[in-house]
Amino acid sequence: MKRFLILNGPNLNRLGKREPGVYGADGLDVLEAMIRKEAATLGVLVSFLQSNHEGALIEAIHAAHDEALDGIVFNPAAFTHTSVALRDAISSGTVPVVEVHISNVHAREEFRHTTVTGAVSRAVISGLGFEGYLAALRFLAANKS
Ligand code: DQA
Repeated sequence: MKRFLILNGPNLNRLGKREPGVYGADGLDVLEAMIRKEAATLGVLVSFLQSNHEGALIEAIHAAHDEALDGIVFNPAAFTHTSVALRDAISSGTVPVVEVHISNVHAREEFRHTTVTGAVSRAVISGLGFEGYLAALRFLAANKS
C-alpha cells in the first residue's frame, strides 16, 4: 500500500479559529477527517503531522525520505515564503512533495507571492481550500515515478 505524509506547518492548528474569512470555518480535525476518507477511497495509507516548529517539519521530511514514502502533501504555511531550510529538506531526498495552500497566495499580500519551497516541489496548489489537499493526494496516489 502506498504511504503518504500530510504535513501542516505553523498556525494551521488554528484552522477554524484563525481568519475564517480566509481559511474557512472548519478546523484541522475536519481537514484530517476529509483526507482520511479520501485515503480510504484511494486505498492508501496516510499519516499526519502539524507543527509550529521549522525543525520538526524538517525532521519529518527527512524521515519521509529515509522511509521512502510515496509522497508528502505539504502546507508549509508562513515558512513557504522564507524557509531555505525547508526547501533544502525537500531537496535532500527523492520523495515527491505537492505543496498546498488553502488560500490563493497570489491574490494576497505581495510577500506571499514568493514560494521558496514551491520551486523544489512537484506541484503547487493554491486557492482550492481543503479540496487542494485531496487533489494533491489523488495526484500523488496516481503518480508512477
Ligand atoms: C497558507 C498561506 C500562507 O501565506 C500563510 O502564511 C498560511 C497559510 C495557506 O494555506 O493558504 O499560514 O499556507
